[in-house]
Amino acid sequence: MSLAVFERTSVHSHIKGLGIRNGKPLKIGDGLVGQEEARKAAWIVVQMIRQGRMAGRGVLLVGPPGTGKTALAIAIAKELGEDTPFVSLSGSEIYSAEMKKTEVLTRAMRRAIGVRVHEFRRIMEGVVKKIDVKLGPHPYNPYQQIPVGGTITLATKDDEKTLRVSGDFVQELLAKGVSEGDVIMIDLETYRVYRQGRAKGSGDYDIYGTRTVEVPSGSIEKEREFVYTVTLHDLDMMHSRAGSILSLFFGAEEKEISPEVRQRVDETVKSWVDGGKAELLPGVLFIDDVHMLDIEAFSFLSRAMESELAPIIILASNRGFTKIRGTDIVSPHGLPRDLLDRLLIIKTRQYTRDEIKEILKIRAKEDKIELSEDALEKLADYGVKESLRYAAQLMIPAKIIAQRENKSKVDAAAVEEAAKLFLSMSGSAKYLREMEEAFLK
Ligand SMILES: Nc1ncnc2c1ncn2[C@@H]1O[C@H](COP(=O)(O)OP(=O)(O)OP(=O)(O)O)[C@@H](O)[C@H]1O
Ligand SMILES: [Mg+2]
Repeated sequence: MSLAVFERTSVHSHIKGLGIRNGKPLKIGDGLVGQEEARKAAWIVVQMIRQGRMAGRGVLLVGPPGTGKTALAIAIAKELGEDTPFVSLSGSEIYSAEMKKTEVLTRAMRRAIGVRVHEFRRIMEGVVKKIDVKLGPHPYNPYQQIPVGGTITLATKDDEKTLRVSGDFVQELLAKGVSEGDVIMIDLETYRVYRQGRAKGSGDYDIYGTRTVEVPSGSIEKEREFVYTVTLHDLDMMHSRAGSILSLFFGAEEKEISPEVRQRVDETVKSWVDGGKAELLPGVLFIDDVHMLDIEAFSFLSRAMESELAPIIILASNRGFTKIRGTDIVSPHGLPRDLLDRLLIIKTRQYTRDEIKEILKIRAKEDKIELSEDALEKLADYGVKESLRYAAQLMIPAKIIAQRENKSKVDAAAVEEAAKLFLSMSGSAKYLREMEEAFLK
């Protein structure tokens, strides 16, 4: 996780969901306060996503700074649960020195689509009864002995088999630390070995952390289902690495993934889905501060939203009428009209003093800060006069000030001192205006 993402989420750590019960928003619930209309709308969006009725569409959260747009997007992610991929990107992150803007967006979109793959593989499984290693001279160094083959006897409760194995396979066994009495599984396609633990009752073998497992029953060779989830981006990376030997030598991170690789991945995934081998898990791509995108990125996004394998897009902006970046066209929220046209728009409104107070209380609890009653009132004053964020940011400095004075609780004086030491946005603008002459120009 990048630092920016970490910062963005840590101030929202109190948010656990949308706080809706029986379709109705609680006044305070799951860490969210007020903003009932927007929460109701967000809840409907969650239902639409779950029912698969959001394809090709998107959501735009609009409202003044600090009114909970990012908080709502996070709440939506929490409601959707772990199984739905949720990728978050800040508009400014598309401007990177290493990648094209469209590449950054494409990657983010493809990370937001999961593929749950079911694979039946032929395996062998059993407890290792006996390993016989045959040694021979090293091909390049005749003085060194290496395993050149051997036999391994596997058993289940009902079956037993002795297999003749290659030198490479013996080396794999040794590398995995397999010894007699271990239960292992062999993937018959790749000949990979998985050591599952010590067979129950196979004698002491006191290595810390070694699991004991039941001896398997049934026949040694069988088919087993494996289920794993990857994203389209993971598959892109795997295919583009495999595509060129040079990529193994140069750089772990591909600069650009070719459209051909992506097309091949898409076709493969579609054939898996058609063949019942995989399910798609369309997720959500959240682009915060979306007015930072430019016209090129917007038209790319509009087109991409219509493609078959597109995630649901959630956007947020705190701009009113403003120029679309890269043009002279003024548009609502700095978004092109044709994109706006495809979006369900949810607005957030300014908080009342009481709501600010409740949010500050929740934040204080989250940060383990004890506030006296008058400290909370003072903070709420700053929340109204300056901003909710400013008030929330004063809490930790105020706590340190209170600790310095051996006070167990943050009181109004500590808040006052913190506010004097740390300027708000309007405070710093005022200071700049007063000091204009003294600054370098
Ligand atoms: N209704 C709410 N309930 C609880 N906490 C909230 C609520 N609204 C906002 N917050 C918290 O207040 C802080 C500011 O809100 P947030 O960052 O979501 O605002 P925003 O609308 O995204 O602002 P910006 O336009 O500047 O990005 C965050 O810590 C957020 O978790
Ligand atoms: Mg925000």
